Amino acid sequence: MKEHTFSIIKPDAMKARQAGEILSRLEKAGFEVVALRLRRLTPAEAEGFYYVHRERPFFRSLCDFMSSGPCITMVLESENAIARLREIMGATDPAKAAPGTIRGDLASSIEANCIHGSDAPETARFEIAYFFPGIELVRSER
Ligand code: CMP
Repeated sequence: MKEHTFSIIKPDAMKARQAGEILSRLEKAGFEVVALRLRRLTPAEAEGFYYVHRERPFFRSLCDFMSSGPCITMVLESENAIARLREIMGATDPAKAAPGTIRGDLASSIEANCIHGSDAPETARFEIAYFFPGIELVRSER
């Protein structure tokens, strides 16, 4: 079943000029980009997005990091998009991410881990609506 997931190319990857490499990996893995925007999150936008983590010790630092520079927000489509994206991203902590995964190959720390991907269907719905409210997703007939 075709599914949508939400992803962010994070400020560390943008700064390291890894956005092209990450987009290329996503395309090669069969994802279609159906919405995309380059933006710089405000601290308040980052706080709202990561609301579920508000009690975690890393919350403040995470929101500062996520608003520290431009990022790319996007909606990706494929069969089982949510699970597949998490597979190719690799574990949250790059030290534990398998070689060949985006985080395993490109990320530098558990916080600066290059890419975000929704972890469940409800989260994907929330995250897509949060950054692309009311958007009509483009579907190509390929
Ligand atoms: P992400 O998949 O976007 O979801 C929450 C983010 O919080 C995570 O990627 C990391 O960027 C960050 N994060 C998760 N765990 C930690 C941690 N233990 N220390 C610092 N940052 C973390």
